[in-house]
Amino acid sequence: MSETRFESRTVIVTGAGSGIGRATAVRLAAEGARVVAVDLVRDRLRQVEAELGDRVVAVDGDLVDQLTIDRVIAAAEGQVDGLANIAGIMDGFEPTAEIHDDTWDRVLSVNLTAMMRLTRAVLPIMLARGKGAIVNVGSEAGLRGSAAGTPYTVSKHAVNGFTTSTAFFYTPKGVRCNAVAPGPVATNIEAPFRSEWAQQRLGPIMQVALPPVAQPEALAAAITWLLSDDASDVSGAVLPVDGGWAAI
Ligand SMILES: NC(=O)c1ccc[n+]([C@@H]2O[C@H](COP(=O)([O-])OP(=O)(O)OC[C@H]3O[C@@H](n4cnc5c(N)ncnc54)[C@H](O)[C@@H]3O)[C@@H](O)[C@H]2O)c1
Repeated sequence: MSETRFESRTVIVTGAGSGIGRATAVRLAAEGARVVAVDLVRDRLRQVEAELGDRVVAVDGDLVDQLTIDRVIAAAEGQVDGLANIAGIMDGFEPTAEIHDDTWDRVLSVNLTAMMRLTRAVLPIMLARGKGAIVNVGSEAGLRGSAAGTPYTVSKHAVNGFTTSTAFFYTPKGVRCNAVAPGPVATNIEAPFRSEWAQQRLGPIMQVALPPVAQPEALAAAITWLLSDDASDVSGAVLPVDGGWAAI
């Protein structure tokens, strides 16, 4: 950890009210960044503001809503050095035959469409300066079919494609784009088993394969590294940060 690695830099962090997003906002601020912290839940952001003081600008709202994206861009005041797309939600472990349209729509909207819209809005600012770093939070469910239900698995596989395509188009223009794929992390994310078949099918696999639960700070360290100049030659990577789960 360096107190100056992000000095004079502005980094947008979504999902900053809880879990991995909160840990990332705290670490970036500790390393000198001005953090634009975005979350759906206002009370959570108040706690982050209380902890980080004038190093944070809080924006509450639903990132699926274009109005929230516009307010985030306004809060950045024309400078965005880094973007951490962390906000996300789980499904109810539904296999394909049991998917409800509202779960499908919401999971894809939050985990993928909101990420695309905010990234699309931030890119012109980064491209104008010829420099920027984007980190998307995927999941172990983006690397295999046995870590969640179908909607979440689809959304996180799509995050990987969004990451590599964005890296392909913009790395030559100075903007890097990478993803991390976490295993289990101790956060407030809700993941209720709503399918008996999923419980039967996934339960035994998870008992054998699941690594120990990580703390959000371990993810924050990897995300912060990818946002920093220490990762200046890394772009288009999907980095498992999962206690070795991807190696099984
Ligand atoms: N916790 C895990 O085990 C785990 C594993 C793999 C991947 N992930 C991913 O990590 C990311 C962060 O999750 P977490 O575990 O820290 O969960 P969390 O629930 O603790 O934090 C996520 C935050 O995102 C916010 N959020 C959700 N939807 C939003 C929206 N539409 N607009 C604005 N904010 C919104 C929530 O209010 C919450 O504060 C997610 O993308 C998740 O899929 C988590």
